[in-house]
Amino acid sequence: VNDPIRNVPLGQPTVGDEELQAVAEVFASGWLSGAGPACAALEKEFAEATGAEHALTTTNCGSALHLALQVLGAGPGDEVIVSDYTFPATSHAVVWAGATPVFADVRPDTGNIDTDSLAALVTPRTVGIIAVDLVGQPADFLQLRELADKAGLWLVEDAACSSGATYMGRPAGSIGADLAAFSFHGRKGITAGEGGALVGNDSDLMERARRLHTYGIAPALTREASSQLAIPQFEEIGHNYRMSEVQAAIMRVQLRRLPDLIAARTRAAEFYNRELSGINGISVPVVAPDRTHSWQSYLIEIDDPLDRDAVAIELRARGVGCNFGTYAAHLQPVYQAKQSCPISAGLFSRHLAIPMHANLANEDLEYVVDVIRTVAANMKS
Ligand SMILES: Cc1ncc(COP(=O)(O)O)c(C=O)c1O
Repeated sequence: VNDPIRNVPLGQPTVGDEELQAVAEVFASGWLSGAGPACAALEKEFAEATGAEHALTTTNCGSALHLALQVLGAGPGDEVIVSDYTFPATSHAVVWAGATPVFADVRPDTGNIDTDSLAALVTPRTVGIIAVDLVGQPADFLQLRELADKAGLWLVEDAACSSGATYMGRPAGSIGADLAAFSFHGRKGITAGEGGALVGNDSDLMERARRLHTYGIAPALTREASSQLAIPQFEEIGHNYRMSEVQAAIMRVQLRRLPDLIAARTRAAEFYNRELSGINGISVPVVAPDRTHSWQSYLIEIDDPLDRDAVAIELRARGVGCNFGTYAAHLQPVYQAKQSCPISAGLFSRHLAIPMHANLANEDLEYVVDVIRTVAANMKS
């Protein structure tokens, strides 16, 4: 099919006039660089939204994870257990901190870290666990917290995709981890193009993360309040992980819109669940009953008699955006991992992400479902 009737992109940000107006206000203010008033306001609002005591805006989720690992003290000689089925920013951050990632396999239904097999990975060198909320569904934090406490480990939530998701009635970011890291990349539910945040309740950890995110000193805004000529001293080497004021202004609008954006994604997910669940060879996502999904992505699992890669090619030819799910990190050559995570590897080979964003019209959803039905029927015959 050379000329598809419709083009439905896999992902699309929902940004418009309100965000543009917020950017215009930042231009007028003259403060465009990072860690200014818009970042401070967003941090207050994001802490409230996630139910955490403190929030720190960052350049992205990777930098938020790196800060988390640094303030929790991960370093050379330490092992950190990470969920294997993830965008490998999770394990990269462990390496940035100088520690070694140990990959944990995942549950076959939700794709989240498998708490049953996790205990066997703990060694005397293990210092912590990073659990990922796979494409927006919170991991099993009740069990994870119990396990971490029993083994004397810290626990980090990679909440890159889960702004607005909940676990046992509480928002992602305050569901049991010591620190949680979020992403505001363009493919996420709320976005400023790029951006991230670290949240947590421990003020010492969060204050140190704040210094480390601005080269190792207190940000200018906190010094501005002083009537003295405050000259900061560098006590440790930090980074520039500051979100710009332009991004923060956009994010403040996006955060206000979060409930509506999640509702639109949920509506799309419910439609897909209903329409795709009867197709032989296709399984729809499983959401555990005690949590809500933010639907950063909608992943179907494609099995016999269908073939994932062949379905992807057919869908793209008909204008339906799609991609593999996410990575089995241990299979990435850079890690030279000697471990095996067969469930994660299986999901890596069978998952297909189909269009999921807040701008999908009924006609888009119907088109996607029609194309998938047709492709599946043709492939079986
Ligand atoms: C689970 C997970 N962690 C971390 C990241 C990295 O986020 P960022 O691009 O904001 O650094 C992503 C991005 O896709 C992700 O999906």
